[in-house]
Formats: sequence, structure tokens, C-alpha cells
Amino acid sequence: MKKTYLLFVALMAFSYTAIAQTVAATAKMNQFIDQLMQKMTLDEKIGQLNLLTPGGGIPTGSVVSTDVETKIKKGQVGGLFGVIGADKVLQAQRLAVEKSRLHIPLIFGSDVIHGHKTTFPIPLGLACSWDTTLIKQTARAAAEEATADGLSWAFSPMVDICRDPRWGRIAEGAGEDAFLGSAIAGAMVRGYQQNNLRQDNTVMACVKHFALYGAAEGGRDYNTVDMSRIRMYNEYLPPYKAAIDAGVGSVMSSFNVIDDIPATGNRWLLTDLLRKQWQFNGFVVSDYTSVNEMEAHGLGNLQQVSALALKAGLDMDMVGEGFLTTLKKSLQQGKVILNDINTACRRILEAKYKLGLFENPYRNVSSERAAVILSPDHLALSRKAAAKACVLLKNNHNVLPLQRKGTIALVGPLADSRRNMLGTWSVAGDWHKAITLKEGMEKLAADQVKIIYAKGANISDDTLFNHKVNVFGPEIEMGTASSDAMIQEAVAAAQKADVVVAALGEAADMSGESSSRADIGLPESQQKLLKALVQTGKPVVIVLFNGRPLTLVKESQMATAILDAWFGGTEAGNGIADVLFGVENPSGKLTASFPYSVGQIPVYYNHLNTGRPYVLGGPTKFKSDYLDIPNAPLFPFGYGLSYTRFLYSPITLSDTILKNGTTIHAMVKVTNSGNYDGEELVQLYLRDEVASISRPVKMLKGFQKIVLKKGETKTVDFPIQVDALKFYNSRLEPVAEPGKYEVMIGTNSDVVQTASFTFNNR
Ligand code: NOJ
Repeated sequence: MKKTYLLFVALMAFSYTAIAQTVAATAKMNQFIDQLMQKMTLDEKIGQLNLLTPGGGIPTGSVVSTDVETKIKKGQVGGLFGVIGADKVLQAQRLAVEKSRLHIPLIFGSDVIHGHKTTFPIPLGLACSWDTTLIKQTARAAAEEATADGLSWAFSPMVDICRDPRWGRIAEGAGEDAFLGSAIAGAMVRGYQQNNLRQDNTVMACVKHFALYGAAEGGRDYNTVDMSRIRMYNEYLPPYKAAIDAGVGSVMSSFNVIDDIPATGNRWLLTDLLRKQWQFNGFVVSDYTSVNEMEAHGLGNLQQVSALALKAGLDMDMVGEGFLTTLKKSLQQGKVILNDINTACRRILEAKYKLGLFENPYRNVSSERAAVILSPDHLALSRKAAAKACVLLKNNHNVLPLQRKGTIALVGPLADSRRNMLGTWSVAGDWHKAITLKEGMEKLAADQVKIIYAKGANISDDTLFNHKVNVFGPEIEMGTASSDAMIQEAVAAAQKADVVVAALGEAADMSGESSSRADIGLPESQQKLLKALVQTGKPVVIVLFNGRPLTLVKESQMATAILDAWFGGTEAGNGIADVLFGVENPSGKLTASFPYSVGQIPVYYNHLNTGRPYVLGGPTKFKSDYLDIPNAPLFPFGYGLSYTRFLYSPITLSDTILKNGTTIHAMVKVTNSGNYDGEELVQLYLRDEVASISRPVKMLKGFQKIVLKKGETKTVDFPIQVDALKFYNSRLEPVAEPGKYEVMIGTNSDVVQTASFTFNNR
């Protein structure tokens, strides 16, 4: 008793000291910024709100800034992005610190999306690991490298929920589920920021794109979004909120409209929700020229939309210079007030202060720190992540793992395509350093296995399409050989082999920004190749490279096995080879459903039931279904195979009544009954059977990855408390309603064990 009391007193003393320190630190920061702002002219304050990109690197928008040097010297720039290399960053910082009147340092940002120079799998692939520790490590490694390159601000995590794989930017997020998306958002923010922005190896994160960008109509990028508040609150907003709760320092507004007002000028979004409800106290940056784009949205001229954005709560204007060129005039005309400019300026200065830029504008960038870039540790992490991202979609006759004997025909346009390994949004990654699948397989097994390589097909033969995809370079390379000759060569290789590995899919920039596709199947050239390979009668293993779920009905019937490798990053080839040869047992599970056909989109596991749900095998007339395709996707959310087999016991519940403050333990025994050691991702879903609004047929509420040796059994225990039952009701209040809940635990969203309990709030 006494001990507990003493511990309590010690804890209280500790937290009081911590609070007192924070209060003192905030007071010191405020004093510093007050003094600085007293010296600033109006122009210099507006200058802080201006974010420019001088060009030179990989373009991430259609215009680049001009006269950047002059503007920096005049105090007209608050930050830069797209400056690649520590020397260039330091050079620009010197201009600000030595040549501008008040010596205010710039903040340097970058699209550090899935790694910096060491590139990890695209976020959608990495999410399939469901491994928040691994994901956090990748963010950490990215922050180490980015800071060594002089950067202090990462335009990540991208947390837009997406249920439409036509949208190319599905590649950049965690998929279709808000619960998983929230866990990943928090892990990434913590990885980047480490709760301490002053460290010389942390970056300020920027959660984006606020908000709902992933719900663009028709999957067409930048398109209109229209969504009910209740859907926003329950299904789309939680990951942004999770990033805020994890302490993210900045937020990027999105290109789309919300309630027909562009996000960048939407006061409800940027002030009422973000600041008042969610208590966000960092700064908000626009997306690339999204202030200016409000003109095209039909909200007025540049002066009007800039004023609108500032008043809505936007602090920093990316590239478009609407703030820089019009805010002064708007102030003179009474269209904005000085307080709005001061508030925005203060938020930018606070960010710089928190990053320690006033003390050390160069943030200890040194030649010693440069050694972290592409370090052996980071490359090892990249290899591990590339393997953990792989999702085994099919594996008939246990054709995988490949045997290390005999002959393998390695064919396909992605088998030896270095340029395509990093995936979209790898602005600092050097594709020349990436490992191809051919290299990975040869390194691992060439001394035991004969590997015959043939390209077999171009990624696509459609020249107009290829021209659009190849905007950053020839990702889709058209050889001189005819398509028939390429297929013949591949077939000849297959005939000599015991097994065919066909590396098929998309080029890296067939997904990503401005890369929507209406047809998300394999291009025709590759379909023809696959058909010819299958006709040889040899087992065909497809290794899929893709930035989005694809429609693969025919392919999944024809192939013996399919391993989805996404775009694995710098070490892609090594990581995939590890999986193919069984060094790693695949454990990835899909985080976005693979539609049966485009006509099914949007297709997602946590849908509502409708009033006329179709029951598999039951009558179809007057039911919610299709005449020509099933309702179920080809591969559901949470799906992914292993080289081994896992058996699930029925669920045991520690109680059947849940009350406020109590916990129910939902437990299953999982047995590895196959022939390999392996990892299994055990998933918990709940269904609220009767509520004041229609609730989804199931909702992910927990997941645990367990390692099981061959023959081993483990009990997995999911504690369930009332928080897991909460949702936003039609008055947008978070509530847990009494009644019956179904508990589902299983290997994917479709194959589950079930039990039920009652929530009694009295
Ligand atoms: C536009 C993209 O939408 C955003 O994600 C990115 O951070 C900016 N460009 C800066 O490159």
C-alpha cells in the first residue's frame, strides 16, 4: 500500500515536472517569436507563408518557381522543397540566413514517401505487412537519411482511404480500412518525429491529403468528392485524426472539394474540424498550387481565392504564390485581417523553432551523417520490407517455394527492369541502385539452378499510353523485337524449364499521381505472353508488380501461383527472391480488395448490408447482386496465403456481457499445421447487429501477427473494451450502443470464426 502510494506520488511529481517544463518551453518559444515578429514587416510575414520549389529534381507538379534566389534574399520565402542534396540545401539556407534582413532560416521539405535514398516498398505494399513496427522503422530510416541530406520536413504520411483502385494514388496510402490506416498513420508519424523534432535526425511529418482525396469520383485524379458527414467521420477521417493524435507537425490540404468547397479554402475542414474539434496546433500547407486551382474550381480570381484560403485556416501556400502576390492588397482592402496573417506566420515560425532551425539552421548536416544514406542497415531493412510486403495470392500444388534445382525460365517485362523497382514517388531514390528480380534470383540460387531469361513482352504495346506513362523516363521500353518474336523466345525458354516465373504487371508510373486507369487489367501484350506460357503446360508463377489492385480473373485461373510483390524499393529483387526460394515465408495480407471486375468498384469489405442482401447460394431475384459477376471481390481484404497452413479453433469469449469499464477477451488457438515455420496475421472483426444507424457487416478492430513454428499452436487473445464499439451516430456523437455484437476472428475478412456478446451499458 505504502509502496503504491509512493509510486503514485513519484509519478505525479514526474508529470508535474514534465508539464512545468513544457509550459516553460512554450513560454520561451512564444517570447522568441513575439520578439521576432515585432521586427518583421508585413511583407516579411507574408514571405514566411510562401513555399517554393526551384526545380531541378523530379517534377512533382506542372510549374516550378522562378527567381527563387532573389526572393529568398528579400525574405519572401518561408520554405523550399524539391531541393536534392545536402550541398544545395545548405547553399539555399545560407542565402536565407546570411543574406535576408532578419536571417530567418528556411524549412526544407520533400516528398519522402517510402524512404529517402534507400527506398522501401510503396506504401500500399508496405501496409500489406501489417507490421507497424517495421513501418515505423522504415519511417525512421527515411528520417535519418533525409536529415543527412539537409531536410527537415517530410510530406508524409499519406493516409487517404481509398476504395477505388482506378485511382493511381491508392499506391501511396494504406488501402481501404480506417482502423489499419490509423495504426499505420500513427506509426509513421512517430517514426519520423520521434516525439522530438529538435533531434538532428528527425523530420516534421505532414499528414496528407486533408481530406478525403481518395474518394475521387470514378477514380479519376483530382476529381470531385461528395460524401456524407457520417461516412467521413466513421470511415475516412480517422487516419488523419490518428496522425494528429500522434503529434504530427503539419497537415497538407487536398485538391478536391468537400461539400463543394475546395479543401484548401474550406473553413469547416481547416478550422472547425481540424483546429477546434481536433485541437491541431501545427501548420497547414496547401498542396501544389491548390490555392490557385480554386480559380478553376470557380471560386474567384487569385486574390479572392488566396484570401479565402487564409481565412479558412491555410498557413502556407505551395508554389502558387497567391499569398505572396495578393495578401497585402487584400489586407489594404479589408478582405483579410492582419491577425490572420500573423497567426499563419506564427505557426510557420513555431515549426521552425520546434525543429531547432533558429539555433542551427544547418541541423548538423555533416559528412559523418551522410554515411547513413544507403547504409548496409538500411538496405537490409529495405530487403526485409520488400519480402514482408509480398502477398501470396495463389499457390497450387505448392509450386512455391521454388526448388533450388533444375531450370527456371524467368520471363516478363518486369523481370529485369531496374527502372521499375522503386515504384511511384521515389523522388530521391536512385533507380540505378535498385536490384532487379533477375539479379536477386541469380544471387540467391544461380549456383544451384539454371535460370534462362527472356523479356517475353513489352509492358504495353499501346504507344499513346506508353508515352503518357513514360513522362519521367522510359519505364516502358519498347525493344526492337516484334511482340511475336519476344513471345517465341519466352516460350522456348519455358519449354526448357521445370517452372516459369513470369514477372508481369504495371510500370512504376502506371500508378501514383495523375495515373488513373479505367481498365486495371494486365495490358494486352502481357496477357498474350501469359497465355502462350501457360500453353506450354509448364507451371507458371506470376510475380506481380503493381501499384494498385488489378483485375486478374483470367490470370488467376491460368497461373499456378501468383505472388504480389508491388514495387519493393531498392532491394526489391533480393526481397522477392527470398520469398520465391523460401528464405522468407510470405505473410503479407491485402489491405485493399482486388475487384472481380471494374464494374464492381467500389468494392470493400466493410460495406453496409443493404435491405436486400444477397446470400451466397440463395435466390438472386430482388436481391442486391449482379447478373453477370459475383458480389465478392476476387481477393478480399485481409487475404494472403503462406507456404504453411494455419488452422483456427472456434472462438472462446471470457464473458458474454460487456459493460462500461470491463474487458472481454476473445481468444482463438492458431495451429501451424503445414510444413514450414511461418507468420500469420490474425484479424479481429466486429459487427454491431442492431444500432441507431445501419452499421457495416464487419469492421476490423484488431490484428496480431504471430510467429508459429511448424506444428506449433498459440493462443491469440484480443481484449475488447467499449471503445471498440464506438462510432459516430447521426448527430455525429461518438457512441457505443447497447445490444448484440458479433465477434469474428480469422485469416482474412472472408474466412472467420464467429461468436457473440452483448454490450450492456447499465
Ligand atoms: C502534389 C502531391 O499531391 C503531394 O502529395 C505532394 O506532396 C506535392 N505535390 C509536393 O510534391
